[in-house]
Amino acid sequence: MDTIIVKADLSNEWYVPEIWEKNMSDAGRVIREGGLVAFPTETVYGLGGNALDKKAAAKIYKAKGRPSDNPLIVHISRISQAENIAVNISNDARRLMDEFWPGPLTIILDKTDIVPKETTGGLDTVALRMPNHPVALKLIEEAGVPIAAPSANLSGKPSPTTAGHVAEDMMGRINMIVDGGPVGIGIESTIIDMSGADPIILRPGFVTVEMLKKVIGPVKVDKVVDAKSIEEMGEDYKPKAPGMKYRHYAPKAELIMYEGSVENVAAAINKKLEEALKNGKKAAVICTDETASLYKNGCIRSIGTRAEQETIAYNLYHLLREFDDMEVDCIYGETFYGTGLGQAIMNRLIKAAGYHLEQV
Ligand code: TXA
Ligand code: MG
Repeated sequence: MDTIIVKADLSNEWYVPEIWEKNMSDAGRVIREGGLVAFPTETVYGLGGNALDKKAAAKIYKAKGRPSDNPLIVHISRISQAENIAVNISNDARRLMDEFWPGPLTIILDKTDIVPKETTGGLDTVALRMPNHPVALKLIEEAGVPIAAPSANLSGKPSPTTAGHVAEDMMGRINMIVDGGPVGIGIESTIIDMSGADPIILRPGFVTVEMLKKVIGPVKVDKVVDAKSIEEMGEDYKPKAPGMKYRHYAPKAELIMYEGSVENVAAAINKKLEEALKNGKKAAVICTDETASLYKNGCIRSIGTRAEQETIAYNLYHLLREFDDMEVDCIYGETFYGTGLGQAIMNRLIKAAGYHLEQV
């Protein structure tokens, strides 16, 4: 299949409104006709198809190489569209929509019959999200149908934050890539399950636990979110978001994370760097602006500044893909535990490391 790439970056000073409109209308038609279009959202790039068409859902799983029991998120462009897709919408769920949509929050609700089980991985619930990105919203409007979209990476790889990343994984596999420039947030949406008696966070993201509590009061957190090891979670534990348990978002190289004081972490990583050098291995470090000077040799990369966790989220997947391009053999990373966005950052990094975390 030929993959067409169209430009739709509104922040580019050269963009021509008529061309943008035409590109978006073409992309909407591809979705309506059952094809696949990758598009930017405020979190990461998505791989979109008609959420109400089971054949389109099957194509998405195939293009990503994703197991078909791992459900897709359904994207809408207006809050009112939730009524066609979900039932039993509680007042708290409505409050969350009003407060955070459009934005990086996905809400799990009971699904209506128009949503095929192929889209929801066989579940009776559906994940719903209204993204905060003009290209995504326009695409959904032009398509005239809700759009099912997982992140536009091959299954297991880091999520794409630029159209270039999407092209690396998806050329020849999908019909179109809409290049809307780099995304703003860099990690996927927060997922909250509002289909049961108690709200439960299934995946942490830019909308933090603290922010959710302010709107709806107490929320639970699935143990997969903060687990530091498979043992801690339980070997047989089945998280409610099927995609959350195992190695994910992973770079090609082995990734090991280190938790401890700044000095201990730097000492442990420097030791590993020396070993790697001796063994002729190409090693890399994930550090921060504050700590970069502590490391001696290897590909030392700052992921951002600890003073602004948003910068760390923004660079996370980009950096993991950069390590792939540099063909490093091993990566040693600092940890970013703490409140707020730290939870989402560590959730992704621990999974990228396949739970390889060393206490030092
Ligand atoms: O920011 C995002 O959410 C991005 C952009 C493209 O919107 N999308 C995204 O989709 O991250 P994906 O497919 O990579 O991750 C969706 C996660 C999976 O872990 C899946 O298991 C979970 O959502 N999920 C989807 N539907 C669910 C449901 N009905 N119940 C529980 N978990 C669900
Ligand atoms: Mg994903």
